[in-house]
Amino acid sequence: MVFNENIIVGSNIGDTMIENQLYMQAVRQNSDNFLRKNGVKPRYLIKTYGCQMNEHDSEVLSTMLIQMGYEEALNVEEANFILFNTCCVRENAELKVYGNLGALKPIKNKNKDLIIAVSGCMMQQEHIVNEIKTKYRHVDLVFGTHNLHTFPKLLRQVLNSDDMLVDVWDSEKEIIEGLPVIRKKDTKAFVNIMFGCNNFCTYCIVPYTRGRERSRKPHDIINEVKELIADGVKEITLLGQNVNSYGLDFKEDYSFADLLEDVNAIEGQFRIRFMTPHPKDMSDKVIEVIAKSDKICEYIHLPVQSGSNTVLKAMNRGYTREDYLALVGRIRAQIPDVTLSTDIIIGFPGETEQDVDDLIDLIKQVRYDSGFTFIYSIREGTPAAKMTNQVDEKIKHQRFERMLEAFNDIVIEKNKAQVGRVVEVLVEGTSRTGEQLMGRTRDNRIVNFVGDNHLISEFINIKITEAKNFSLIGEMI
Ligand code: 5AD
Ligand code: SF4
Repeated sequence: MVFNENIIVGSNIGDTMIENQLYMQAVRQNSDNFLRKNGVKPRYLIKTYGCQMNEHDSEVLSTMLIQMGYEEALNVEEANFILFNTCCVRENAELKVYGNLGALKPIKNKNKDLIIAVSGCMMQQEHIVNEIKTKYRHVDLVFGTHNLHTFPKLLRQVLNSDDMLVDVWDSEKEIIEGLPVIRKKDTKAFVNIMFGCNNFCTYCIVPYTRGRERSRKPHDIINEVKELIADGVKEITLLGQNVNSYGLDFKEDYSFADLLEDVNAIEGQFRIRFMTPHPKDMSDKVIEVIAKSDKICEYIHLPVQSGSNTVLKAMNRGYTREDYLALVGRIRAQIPDVTLSTDIIIGFPGETEQDVDDLIDLIKQVRYDSGFTFIYSIREGTPAAKMTNQVDEKIKHQRFERMLEAFNDIVIEKNKAQVGRVVEVLVEGTSRTGEQLMGRTRDNRIVNFVGDNHLISEFINIKITEAKNFSLIGEMI
């Protein structure tokens, strides 16, 4: 068995990149031999779970595989390399990974040369790696979120060994810039501005799997955005677990508001979005910059999680419902046509019916335009998992339905009020049915309309003619 667990390698990034090139060449030779023997390139399949950060990591891994002579497989059966890039924010996501990994066992039994790898947030937890080692012995490679850049080396090692290779680093190091990435979508792109989280909300596993906050240097971000715009991208989403604390780890004084201003100043016609701002850290300067910048969309995702002060305190969110409502007031005063979305958790330990009433009251005051609603999921290793006052599953579901009804009534009502408006839409592609085009307004509403495919990636004006519950129908004017 080869076990490289908890390795902390030397910090010379230049050497790492040169070493990487050598491993890439070695794997490429392997792929060329495969091609000569079989008449086709070896094929890879990556399944990504969870957030945009994971999507981006998968794009990097996919690019490395292409550079190492692989091509994308259409299905599991024709793949020579399968990777699950995992998420562990909620239990559902983990159960899916276990289920899908189990389903690969008979396929691996038939095809011994198939390489199965698992990466991402789940693998940053010791109990999960132990589970893989004991119950999923058909897995060949396990790696985590901190050593993505060493993937060519790891692949090279597993190609030359029959044993499971586990290489999970338990802490983050410097940000590795310059990793190759061919992006899938050309209308929209996601740009990481920082990694990790320092907030330790008591329900959340992310600070344990993604480590402490590290901000990318402004010029690296700005150069990446400039390149994307030059490539024809029309919408940039700046990503971080808490973008409002961007730059706090710099010696110099440079904040998220400064970054927004600098990205807004880049030439070209494009939109800027960002995710996720923590309400406790939203400065007036950020609000001011959004209000005055033409490219930054009037849409803010502002996770509230709960509307009860008792629950917010137990969650360690760092604000009260009064603070949150005052912030919403300040945002609306500066950006009158702003749309707001949120994240909500129902069923946090100790939650009472009164807490849910308080949440519904807050929802009615804020009147969100959209949102993501979750049932609390126990995450081993977090403080909330140890709380003894867990809410019964059946009650969680009842409360969830009650809250969702109140939430959706408002979302639908606000969507219906869009009829008759003329809005700027960025066309993203075809609609789900494939019969129409689909685009988004600046305030992030989905609009379907009849139009020609050459309009994809263009900004056009649309008159809204009809409102479905969660999307709009319009026509070109
Ligand atoms: N249970 C349910 N939802 C969670 N989230 C994070 N951790 C949990 C958990 N343990 C939700 C939060 C967060 C979003 C990304 O996922 O609402 O904002
Ligand atoms: Fe998790 Fe809270 Fe950090 Fe968001 S801010 S990633 S919910 S710990």
